[in-house]
Amino acid sequence: MRDDADHAILRPIRPDDILGCVDVFYDAVDPLYRRLDQPLPPRDPASLGRLIGHLLDHDADRAWLAEAPSSTGDDRPPRILGFGTAWQRESTWYLALLFVRPQAQASGLGRKLLLRTFPRGPMDPPDPEDGAPDPGGATEGGAPVLDGAAAAPGHGATGGGATGAGSGLMATCVDSIQPISTGLYAGYGMVPRVPLFTAIGRPRPGSLPALPRDVVATGFEALPATYPLAGTLAGLDRATLGFERPQDHRFWAREGRRGVLFRRAGAGDVLGYGYAQPSGRLGPVALLDETLYPGVLGTLVARESPPGPYLALVPGVNHRAIVALLHAGFRFEGFPGIVGSTRPWEGLARYLPASYALP
Ligand SMILES: CC(C)(COP(=O)(O)OP(=O)(O)OC[C@H]1O[C@@H](n2cnc3c(N)ncnc32)[C@H](O)[C@@H]1OP(=O)(O)O)[C@@H](O)C(=O)NCCC(=O)NCCS
Repeated sequence: MRDDADHAILRPIRPDDILGCVDVFYDAVDPLYRRLDQPLPPRDPASLGRLIGHLLDHDADRAWLAEAPSSTGDDRPPRILGFGTAWQRESTWYLALLFVRPQAQASGLGRKLLLRTFPRGPMDPPDPEDGAPDPGGATEGGAPVLDGAAAAPGHGATGGGATGAGSGLMATCVDSIQPISTGLYAGYGMVPRVPLFTAIGRPRPGSLPALPRDVVATGFEALPATYPLAGTLAGLDRATLGFERPQDHRFWAREGRRGVLFRRAGAGDVLGYGYAQPSGRLGPVALLDETLYPGVLGTLVARESPPGPYLALVPGVNHRAIVALLHAGFRFEGFPGIVGSTRPWEGLARYLPASYALP
């Protein structure tokens, strides 16, 4: 397999590769947990497959796999050794998934796949004062050309190395117990910045407050048909995370996440949105005013009656959400993830991600 990794062939992921990629995911992740004597996280291969499908639908040119060279001439498809997928919304690029089978690790394959997912071409006008990114775009094996992305030394950088005055952002989330990926991405400027806690629990009755009297919560399904929901969500996303993402809202709706819009009573000023799932999964939540978190969480929790506990992913910088959830009886589960980014991602203080791969 090691020899295969040295001679692996890289090509774009196709829809009929999705099952193979899911297999690589579990093959790569399970040993990590076993080595640390941690319980394996719950498996949901169907949901992972749909997520990869979503990434292929909208970011096909940022989805790559490595397969073993086929020299036997038989009909069996070559074995997938690793894969990587990223998404890009405006000037934000995010590495969603990067996994290499254990026997093929530590021979450069993860880095090669990562580089294939990088943004092609400048996403921001280069700032001449700021060590301008390569205007020609990333070349094979080259560095990304986003502002804020530093080229990793000694790995075929093309002269990027901008220091981050522009608005572009590169980000990802790693397991905090995984130094390899943390180090690999940090070398490209995505340095570990914000812990992402998994909070699980059943709130004690009355422990999450109601919304302030002048805030109204309306399920998306109860909004008038003429209400400009897509544009409203786009405005909230832009004001919190910094980019619009209509395709992701459509994906979350298809996945059964039920949205709620929060508005000021009377004037109707928009304050934020939040989703909850019948399974008890909370998020994403984006609020313009983070002091609303306790009441918003109380509202979302009250809308679902899951068979088990509720679950939320909470950035360490989202002070209000962390305190509200802990006071309500939630507990941190396992070890946190770490969001790495080429510059601080301020919006996370007012946001609860939907998942590690599609926050
Ligand atoms: C993470 C993963 C995708 C990396 O792929 P890989 O093919 O093993 O990695 P590569 O050989 O291309 O690159 C390894 C790089 O990691 C970095 N690295 C490795 N160990 C490190 C450490 N202890 N500290 C800091 N950086 C480290 C180095 O930059 C190294 O590159 P170098 O050997 O050229 O110096 C792969 O190991 C994997 O799938 N692991 C299990 C699943 C997982 O954790 N995935 C990431 C989820 S966030």
